[in-house]
Amino acid sequence: MKYDIKTLTLEEKLSLLVGGGNMHTSDANAKLPVVYVADGPLGLRSHQNYPNRPRIVNMATGIENPFVEPTAMPALHVLCNSWDPELVARNASSIADDCIDNGVDVLLAPGVNIKRSPLCGRNFEYFSEDPYLAGTMAKAYIEGVQGTGLGTSLKHFCANNSEYDRNAISSEIDERTLREIYLAPFEIALQAKPTTVMCSYNLINGVYASENGYLLSEILRGEFGFDGLIVSDWGATHNAVRAAQATLDLTMPYAPEHIEALRAGYENGELTEAQIDERAGKVLGLIEKTKIERRATTTKPERHDIAVKAAKESIVLLKNEENILPLTGGKLLVAGLFGKLPPYGGGGSSKVPTSYQPAPLTELLSARLGERAELSYALAHDYGALGSSTQYATKVYQKAYGADVTLLCVGTNPQLEFEGGDREHLRLPQVYEDMILRTAKATENLVVIVYAGSAIDMSAWIDKVKAVVFVGFAGEGGNEALADILTGAACPCGKLSETFPLCLEDAPTGTKRGGNGFVDRYTEGVFVGYRWYDETEKEVLFPFGHGLSYAKFEYSDLTVTKTGVAEYEVSYTVKNLSAVDGKEISQVYVRDVFAAVSRPKKELKGYSKDLIKAGESKRITVKLDYRSFAYYSTALKKWHVENGEFEILVGASSQDLPLKAKILIDDAPDQYSKPY
Ligand code: BGC
Repeated sequence: MKYDIKTLTLEEKLSLLVGGGNMHTSDANAKLPVVYVADGPLGLRSHQNYPNRPRIVNMATGIENPFVEPTAMPALHVLCNSWDPELVARNASSIADDCIDNGVDVLLAPGVNIKRSPLCGRNFEYFSEDPYLAGTMAKAYIEGVQGTGLGTSLKHFCANNSEYDRNAISSEIDERTLREIYLAPFEIALQAKPTTVMCSYNLINGVYASENGYLLSEILRGEFGFDGLIVSDWGATHNAVRAAQATLDLTMPYAPEHIEALRAGYENGELTEAQIDERAGKVLGLIEKTKIERRATTTKPERHDIAVKAAKESIVLLKNEENILPLTGGKLLVAGLFGKLPPYGGGGSSKVPTSYQPAPLTELLSARLGERAELSYALAHDYGALGSSTQYATKVYQKAYGADVTLLCVGTNPQLEFEGGDREHLRLPQVYEDMILRTAKATENLVVIVYAGSAIDMSAWIDKVKAVVFVGFAGEGGNEALADILTGAACPCGKLSETFPLCLEDAPTGTKRGGNGFVDRYTEGVFVGYRWYDETEKEVLFPFGHGLSYAKFEYSDLTVTKTGVAEYEVSYTVKNLSAVDGKEISQVYVRDVFAAVSRPKKELKGYSKDLIKAGESKRITVKLDYRSFAYYSTALKKWHVENGEFEILVGASSQDLPLKAKILIDDAPDQYSKPY
């Protein structure tokens, strides 16, 4: 190691265990370089106010000390709808390029917490309700960032699934649920070896994440083999000594009381010098990994193009009656402010300070449809004033009455979906519901475009509109991507990475916000997301994995070949029956038919996104391994596959699985008597 712990005094070592400021590490009396960190995950947040920021040269442009405004990329909930790890990696590496240009060493991303409640104010910053999908996406994100030489922070470890009272709430979770649902995405993402892991604010089973030795030391470091640096979430350390004992390395941000507490801990024998050296050694390791020469390989316009491409692959066509989309021309009305200025992301630490102004949707559509279309625009409400629309309403209805197709842009915004608080309900703001219902009376051809950070209850209006497009918080390129999709220049190919329930009451957490007092009991167990709706046989608005295309796909010829002990290759054919080239996301689920523990009806264990040209077919192969069939046995304290019958289900969404194969596993090791 280049940096030797022996050259540091005890005080200097202690200083390393606490940040040197808000967003950087200590320089230990100018003996060490400082590591600069910044949020993540939708783009670069801070890019200034770093003391003694080193001189930077953009290798792509040759410009010295550029002040590069960051690009607002799609939020993770949107990106995940792409089901495309390569795209996620590309998107992430372009964020890393913004960091490189601005002297940042570690991007505080990605967040991989499971969407347990659709109300969670930070769902837009997270990938999915499914651990396998979330984990594989986070792994790709980390690979994308770290491929540039920049560091990452996999967050928030763990079970931080609501924002309500996040500093005081204890997530009370049984061991099997913790392993299968809440730790699994971290476990998968850790395969990419993130430089740091950030602990969460909440308590887990009564102990703060920052002090939870069982989670940090035994599981994260011991079982999962993480050998990087564990950083606290900002302000999540309550007792610096207990945190260091639990192997938390770095408390952020700087606060003198943490150093005093650590010093006192050393003096009264609670912390040994060897323990301090081990924690400080992780900070030296971080310096070694991140203070390296890096080059941005993309220019600013290229980063914007990546933002547009990522959004295009991720926008989801939820409903499209009578093929009203793609638009072919005629009199088109765009209504609603988001048609001019869409919300790029939600509120809080992930907010990207960009001043990019996209062209209005009317212009973007007009550029694509040319003389075939006559575009007009109507404002539906003032930005930020979601309370009143009456002054605009009449104009919208009148114009809609005279138009061939009306595109109504609605949704939430960073004031409604943000870090530190949860939504109060799943419906659109009243002003939008009213606007949709009234406009639907003026036109039969209403297309609703939804910009929001998580699931929306559409029950009040879904039957009254022809089409619904879910854009989400799609970053600065969202409306450019949308214009391509609306006009057929691009074929929609995103699918939902979370279930849209019919109403909040149906969700695994029901109408509950936060916990009962300061304890949030995860009574639904492993039945989260589609696992819950399957188990309770609740109808949903749009199932996990759903998304329409302008192309039409047919699934056939499923074969399952054994390749090892509880290892299989699943192959199937997808044919594009239409005249349009399109990408299809095919999904592979596994069902344990007779299980000795209560298991979900099915679980996602593989997926593939493939371009299939008009009229062509593609043979797709997905691999399943031991973990695809296993549950976490609390009796055996390990992942366990029971011998017996399993089903492999393949198709276009969690509720559209036309292919089924039955397999019998009879050679899994360590078998125990079964009650049948
Ligand atoms: C957030 C983290 C973020 C940190 C630093 C905290 O409030 O929970 O996700 O990385 O602030 O900005």
